[in-house]
Parts: sequence; structure tokens; C-alpha cells
Amino acid sequence: MPFPKINPLRLNHSLENLGRIGHTENGMQRVAFSALDVEGRAHTIEMMRRVGLTVRIDPAGNIIGSKDGSESSLIPIALGSHIDTVPNGGKYDGTLGVMGALECMLTLQEQNITTRHPLEVLVFTNEEGTGFPHWLFGSRAMSGALSPEDLTAVDHDGVGLETRLQAIGGDFSHIHDAARSPGDLCAYFELHIEQGPALDRSGTPIGVVTGITGRAAFEVDVKGTANHAGTTPMGLRHDALLSASRLILTVERIASEMEICRVGTVGRASISPNATNVVPGNVAFSVEFRDVQSTALKAAEVEFRRYAQELERSDGVSVEINALPPTTPAPITSEMQDLVAQAAGVHGLATERLPSGAGHDAQAMAAITNVAMVFVPSVNGISHSPLEFSTPQACAEGTQVLLDLLLLADQRD
Ligand code: GLV
Ligand code: MN
Ligand code: MN
Repeated sequence: MPFPKINPLRLNHSLENLGRIGHTENGMQRVAFSALDVEGRAHTIEMMRRVGLTVRIDPAGNIIGSKDGSESSLIPIALGSHIDTVPNGGKYDGTLGVMGALECMLTLQEQNITTRHPLEVLVFTNEEGTGFPHWLFGSRAMSGALSPEDLTAVDHDGVGLETRLQAIGGDFSHIHDAARSPGDLCAYFELHIEQGPALDRSGTPIGVVTGITGRAAFEVDVKGTANHAGTTPMGLRHDALLSASRLILTVERIASEMEICRVGTVGRASISPNATNVVPGNVAFSVEFRDVQSTALKAAEVEFRRYAQELERSDGVSVEINALPPTTPAPITSEMQDLVAQAAGVHGLATERLPSGAGHDAQAMAAITNVAMVFVPSVNGISHSPLEFSTPQACAEGTQVLLDLLLLADQRD
């Protein structure tokens, strides 16, 4: 059984070419459903056709490129990821998994290798969830996990999903037809940059992902009393921003000092009325906790709510906490982890096992098929930033492991 080598230069060109679409000096702006996302998708579809894939768009806007295998009784092995970016994002997050998958297809094509299984390359819609309350949109649609709230949600511009999906060739009226069943796919493999510091620090080229983080997210609304900043004595204030600050510090404490869950973040906040000479009356902010254990997420929520109640009494403010749809952690089976380690061994690459702190389409796909993830180092562990960088060598090594993983999996039924 041959294990052909991928072409690192060609892969790097693919990354550079797609990386030009949406590139600005403040980072990548290929946010889902934007004109740049549409352009990036068209570019990717064109590449898929060139490598001999038959392309269709499912009702959720997912791009599916497929190719027959030599044994008609077998079901497809899928590779994929996403090409949407966060605002001011990086060039590798998601993109590597898609361009890596297409490099695997090109290598098979030039070596005249037909796999036993049919193959699919999947490009999922709005993995980042930008604009909408919930992430992993396309992969959750494919795994049948959309909630009624997903369908009625409007984005930050007040535009609903039906209109957004039209822009990318999806079909809201048949959205549930995007769902596939357990038994439709043999496996789903995703190559991704680590987005954290572990592999870069240890100098290990390949990460074998052991599980993907879950997330508990909330919208918090603190209501105090807006009042005159010059005349209201300090002891008589109900300053919503001060109380919100105490809550924000608690998010930090829950994850660091108390070690209840792995990480906690407040990434968005708005102050009202947001004027220099007014004691803030209202502050709204987001909270997310992440951990690979559901019990840790629950415990973080309990502590956060307990502290918010305490604060209501001490500060004389009201705190409303609305839970956004949670994402459950997805463990990766030891069988799949071992297959990734074996694939890394084909070309002699060292591995390290680690959990993923970022969310990925693979965690939604885990509901309907076997999943495995291959990580490559992120220089200085930076991601969701214009400084996101993985070396051409790291990208090539990860893509090589993805191809070897595919070929090993293809030997099994
Ligand atoms: C997705 O990129 C995440 O926020 O983990
Ligand atoms: Mn990603
Ligand atoms: Mn991301």
C-alpha cells in the first residue's frame, strides 16, 4: 500500500491564494455570509471541481465535494473544516483543514489512486458563529442538532437566517434536509491549527486530539441606576459598570484562582448610556466558560449565578443571566486517537496527545460518525488574531498526516 507524499509548495500556494480573499492589515475579514465569504466559497468550489470532486451545496449552505470509491458497498470518509473567519482573524483557522483536504485529493489524483471508500470534502457554514448566538452552524445542521432558536435567530444586523442562507446558495425552507444519519459517513477527519501554545512550546509537530471542549455561554444584563456623575455621592450610587466589573473579575476567578473550569472569558460588553458624566445605568456583556468536562461547566455556572445573587443584595442592582445554547464536550475515542498516532508514524512524525480548547466542526459531527482531529503548532499559540501563524512546514506535516490517516482508514471497512 503506497503512502504518497503531499506537495508542500502547492499546499502553501493554496493557503496563500485563499488567504488573499478577505485579507486586510487588521487581519482576515472573511466573516460568514459576507461578500468576502461568498468570494472565498466560490474560489474553493472552483478548486474542488479542478480536483475532480462533484460539488453540491446542502440547504444549510455547507459545500460538499464528493468522489466515488472503488467499492460501491462502502460509505464515504469525509475530510473538512471551515473557511469563514472571525472579524480581524487569522489565515489558518479552518482554512488549513479545507486546503489540506484538497491537497490530499490532488495528491491522490496525480498518483492515480482510487480509494476503496467514496470520499467527501466538507466546508461547513459559519463555524465561528459570528453575528449569530450559536456557532458550528453548518456542522450542527449536518448532524441534525439545530434548535428552534437557531432557526428564528437574527444576526447583529437584524437579518435572519433565511436571507443569509440565500446569499450562499442554501435553502432555509429545506434546512432539516441538511441532516445526515449515523451510518451515512464512515468517518470525519479534521486537520486544524492548535490555536494554543502546547505544541509550539514542546516542539512537537503533530497533536493527537483527545477531546474537544464544551462551552457554556451567557448574556448578562446588569441594571443599576443612571445618575449625575457630579452630584451623586459615592455611597448612594448603583453603578452598573462597577457591579459588572465585579462579575467580570469573578469569571476570571472561577477559572484561575478557583480552578472550577479551564477558561472563562468576557469578550463583549456595552455600557449605557456610555457618557463621561453619567453613572452607568446598564451594562450588558457576554460570558463563556470552557472545559472538556460537562460537570466543570455546570459548576462554573452555579458559582457565577451564586455570586451574581450576592452582588444584587450588596450593590442594589439587578442581574439577569440568560444562558445561550450550550455546546457539550466531545471526547474522541482511543481507537481514533491511535489511528492518528499511527498515521503520524507513517512518515516518522512525533506526536503529543492533547485536548482542544477551541470548538470545531468535528464536535458536532461526532454525533453521527467517528471523528479524529490532527493538530499542528500555532506559533506562540496565537489565534483569532492577525498574528495567527503556522509555518509552511507545520501545515505540510499536518496535511501529510491527514492523507496518511485517510489511507489507513480506507484499509478498514
Ligand atoms: C471557534 O473557533 C472557537 O471559538 O473555539
Ligand atoms: Mn476553526
Ligand atoms: Mn476559529
